[in-house]
Amino acid sequence: MMDNNKLTDFELQEKEPSASETILVIDDSPTNLEVLHDTLVNAGYEVLVEMDGFSAIEQVKTNSPDLILLDIMMPKIDGYETCRRLKNDPRTRNVPIIFITALSETLDKVKGLKLGAVDYITKPFQQEEIIARIQVHLQLRKLNLELDSQKQLLEQRVQERTAELSEAFEELKRVQLQLVQSEKISSLGQLVAGVAHEVNNPIGFISTNLYHANQYVQDLINLIQLYQAQFPSPGDDIQEYIAVMDLGHVLQDLPKLLSSMKLGSERIRGIMQSLRSFSRADGVKKKPANIHEGIETTLMILQHRLKAQIHRPMIQVVKDYGDIPPVLCYPGLLNQVFMNLLANAIDALEESFLISNLSLENKLQLIKNENGEMIEPQILISTILEEENVVIYIADNGRGIAKSVQNQIFQAYFTTKPEGKGTGLGLSISYQIITEKHGGTLDCVSAPGEGTKFIIKIPLNG
Ligand SMILES: Nc1ncnc2c1ncn2[C@@H]1O[C@H](COP(=O)(O)OP(=O)(O)O)[C@@H](O)[C@H]1O
Ligand SMILES: [Mg+2]
Repeated sequence: MMDNNKLTDFELQEKEPSASETILVIDDSPTNLEVLHDTLVNAGYEVLVEMDGFSAIEQVKTNSPDLILLDIMMPKIDGYETCRRLKNDPRTRNVPIIFITALSETLDKVKGLKLGAVDYITKPFQQEEIIARIQVHLQLRKLNLELDSQKQLLEQRVQERTAELSEAFEELKRVQLQLVQSEKISSLGQLVAGVAHEVNNPIGFISTNLYHANQYVQDLINLIQLYQAQFPSPGDDIQEYIAVMDLGHVLQDLPKLLSSMKLGSERIRGIMQSLRSFSRADGVKKKPANIHEGIETTLMILQHRLKAQIHRPMIQVVKDYGDIPPVLCYPGLLNQVFMNLLANAIDALEESFLISNLSLENKLQLIKNENGEMIEPQILISTILEEENVVIYIADNGRGIAKSVQNQIFQAYFTTKPEGKGTGLGLSISYQIITEKHGGTLDCVSAPGEGTKFIIKIPLNG
């Protein structure tokens, strides 16, 4: 009774099998093939038949069925071997295989299932049973395929999300970095601007007073000279004093002394001016600025680092400025870029001179070009207008950059400098300033031992 009910269920389902499902029947007995063929066609399936394992394997390669019915006892290769080969081929691995076996062969059924078959049907055939089993496995296969594609979709989504997240994380790191850096710079800028302002007044007194002092000293010198002309013999005491104080020298030296004080105070003024313009806060909008002024200001601030040291000669700065109109930009940010690139160039030149423990003379011997001429540590700054872009080259003849790290130098926190000296932030921030803030490009050309060149390109009109 129960069995009958089941059969009825299957019969009901049997009325609507999916039209496109294809079943391959592999059997060497024409009688079996015929029975199976008719049964399956009647049930609405597409049916392919093969009479031996080899041709079946070939057939399946080009024409993959949804399910295979496979006889065990066949000439050439038997059903087990056919099954093994189908399961080894990634193209056919997932096609469900149902063995056809004689009722008695219990052990063999187990062998078939172990080889990867999903089920078996027994001869002589019970049509309803065949259809029922086939339907179950086709359904299972459909669900499996769906599951697979869902899984793939899910994996893809997970991958996409992971990529999105890591991108967002990188962005967050960059923004954070920029915030910290601009915070630092703006507070440093405020400090510098404050100091410059405070120094400005006293230095103003000094230079105005120096002007008057100079006048007075000139008058006094004239007066002394008049006295000397009018009273050539002023008496022993005065003669002696003149000799001891070395009046001649004082009269000569005093004006020189004053003019060097004047020069000094003018330098201070200049430096303060540079500091103020270097540290000026950029507004939210770009404004036209003189690029060369920015470079000069930066050089002024770095002046002390260019001077000769015990271990190396002075760093020459060679400038080749083109005719550049005002550039629409954030001048304070650009100064930061110049500062980073120039400081790196100086560091690289320093490192070239620290390559060994040789004396300065011997090191200078090392740094020669192919003509035997000594190569001086040098930074070359040139600017040129190229169509609507301003191009700024900052090159040094320092140690250069190893090929292996050239693609890392713009990454945040990448540094080859000892702790405390390098932060690894200079270039990554410069890169952001040039590309994101100014819509330009920042490139680097370098070879170890042949120096380094950075190329900044920004649009003239923002
Ligand atoms: N002009 C240069 N010559 C040689 N190496 C350079 C030069 N500019 C940058 N580099 C390399 O790029 C790295 C990253 O530079 P940067 O981002 O400014 O960080 P930091 O100067 O703090 O190390 C440096 O550590 C250095 O190895
Ligand atoms: Mg740096």
